Amino acid sequence: MITARANSNIAFIKYWGNLDDNLRIPANPSISMNLDGIHTTTSVRWDDRLASDKLVLNQTETTGQALERVSQHLDIIRQRAGIHTYAEVISSNNFPMGAGIASSASSFAALTVAAATAAGLTLSERELTTIARLGSGSASRSIPTGFVQWHQGTDHESSYAESITEPDHWDLRDVIAVVSHAHKEVGSRQGHTTANTSDLQAARVAGATKRLEVVKQAILNRDFATFADVVEYDSNLMHAVMMTSRPPLFYWQPATLTVMEKVRQWRQDGLEVCYTLDAGPNIHCICTAQAASTVAAELRQLDDVQDILIAKPGTGVLIIS
Ligand code: DP6
Repeated sequence: MITARANSNIAFIKYWGNLDDNLRIPANPSISMNLDGIHTTTSVRWDDRLASDKLVLNQTETTGQALERVSQHLDIIRQRAGIHTYAEVISSNNFPMGAGIASSASSFAALTVAAATAAGLTLSERELTTIARLGSGSASRSIPTGFVQWHQGTDHESSYAESITEPDHWDLRDVIAVVSHAHKEVGSRQGHTTANTSDLQAARVAGATKRLEVVKQAILNRDFATFADVVEYDSNLMHAVMMTSRPPLFYWQPATLTVMEKVRQWRQDGLEVCYTLDAGPNIHCICTAQAASTVAAELRQLDDVQDILIAKPGTGVLIIS
C-alpha cells in the first residue's frame, strides 16, 4: 500500500473551459500556488482478490459518481502498467469539500502518485502531471512544488505543469474566508463545458497568456502591486464568464461581495492583500506574510465570515509511506 499526500492549490490565472473536454486540454494556460497543509491523503492498494475498485472517502465507503471518476482514473494507470487488478483507495481531505477550495486538485494529484507508485510505475514529474490532468485539470498543478504553471499544450504530452519557483521564494499567504460550507450545486467539471456559451470567454482567453506572463514576472520579482491588480482582474473575468454562460453560474453570495469590497478597501488603505475566487462563494485573500495577521483579524470582525483557513506556499505531492 502506497500513501501520497497532495496540497490543494489556488490559481492566480484561472483555468476555465477546455479545448478538448476528454483530454482536458485547457482553453488557456494557468498559474497557481500550492496551499501548505490544505491537503488530501490517499492510500492505494492493488489487490487481485478484489472484484471491483473500492473507495473509502473521508472514512465512508463511497459508490456512485465519485467511485466512477476514481475508477476511470485507475483505468489509465492500469493501462499504463499493463495490469487488470482492482484497487482499494482510501482518501481523506482535511478541509471542507465543495466550497471553492478545490478538492479535486489535491485528490487527483494524490491518487495519481499513490496509484502509479503502487503499480510499480516509474514516471517523470512531467508525466505524472499529465496523468493527473486527465482526472482533474487543476490536479496537474498540485504535483510540482511551490508556484506552478500549467502549460496549455496542444495534446496529452504537451499539456503539463511545472514549478516556476520554490515555496520559500515568496512568503505569501492565502487567508481563506469561508462564508459558506454548503456543497456547490454545479461543479467546475460541468462549468468548463459551458464556458464557450458566454460571449466573454473568447475575450478572457485572448488575454490569458499575457496576464499569465505578468503574474509570473510579478511572482519572480515579488511585486505585490502588479500581482494584486492582475490576479483580481483575472478572477473577476472568470466569474463574468460564469455569470454570462447558459445556463448562468452564480457562485457569489451577498457575503462574498461584502468581503471582496473590504479587501479592495484594505488594499487602498495600504495593506498588501487581494482576492481571488474559484467555483464557489469563499474568498481567497492572497496577502504577504506581514499582512496576514491583520487580514485575518479584520475578517474575523465580519459577521458573514464563518471560518478562516490560512495557508502558506506548499510543496508538491509527497509519498509519505
Ligand atoms: C475555478 O480542475 O476543478 O478552480 O478538470 O473538471 O476537475 P476539472 O475542473 P477543476 O477546475 C478548476 C477551476 C477553477 C480555476 C482553477 O483552479 O484554475
